[in-house]
Amino acid sequence: MFTDLIKKRRSVRTYSDKPIARETLQVIVDAVFHAPTAKNLNDVELFIVEGKEKLEELSTFRKNYAGHIARGQAAIAVLSDTEASPGNNRQDACIAATYILLQAADLGLGACWTNVNSAFDENDQPATIKLHEILGVPDKYNIETVISLGYPLNEPKPKVPRDMEGKVHWSKME
Ligand SMILES: Cc1cc2nc3c(=O)[nH]c(=O)nc-3n(C[C@H](O)[C@H](O)[C@H](O)COP(=O)(O)O)c2cc1C
Repeated sequence: MFTDLIKKRRSVRTYSDKPIARETLQVIVDAVFHAPTAKNLNDVELFIVEGKEKLEELSTFRKNYAGHIARGQAAIAVLSDTEASPGNNRQDACIAATYILLQAADLGLGACWTNVNSAFDENDQPATIKLHEILGVPDKYNIETVISLGYPLNEPKPKVPRDMEGKVHWSKME
């Protein structure tokens, strides 16, 4: 059930050595192309990285909080074409990324979002510049996130929901 999936999904940052079959990655890719986009435009693209060496290099795009990429078996960078759907491309990318996280959890995979915006590399330059260089992605693409993927080394604990007190407004704000 979808409700169970939502409760099961966690950010996973340590992975086993078990490789991810190409067909499994393809299921995740297919999920993304079912996701809504603002104008039903095809502005979201995926850059899939496999192989330890490349994943290790990718993990250096920001100076911290990206080490899990090197520990994964694959990573998906979520790109959006800023010229194809200006003004909406980032929302479209975030929805696509959410689909990746949920589809991965449904397949028994662990995944973790890595933020690109507001992150910096080891020289305190915007991490997005280094990320574009590592991947060889043209500047017209925004790279919203790099999602690491792998089979979890340890089964993650189910999500404890955040405190809803005062955060939900039915018809009016008190
Ligand atoms: C927009 C966004 C940015 C995030 N950036 C990072 C990141 O750069 N590195 C990281 O290890 N986790 C990152 N995370 C994962 C969060 O830390 C994680 O979702 C949060 O602690 C809640 O845990 P949960 O995903 O297990 O529910 C990010 C998550 C989101 C939604």
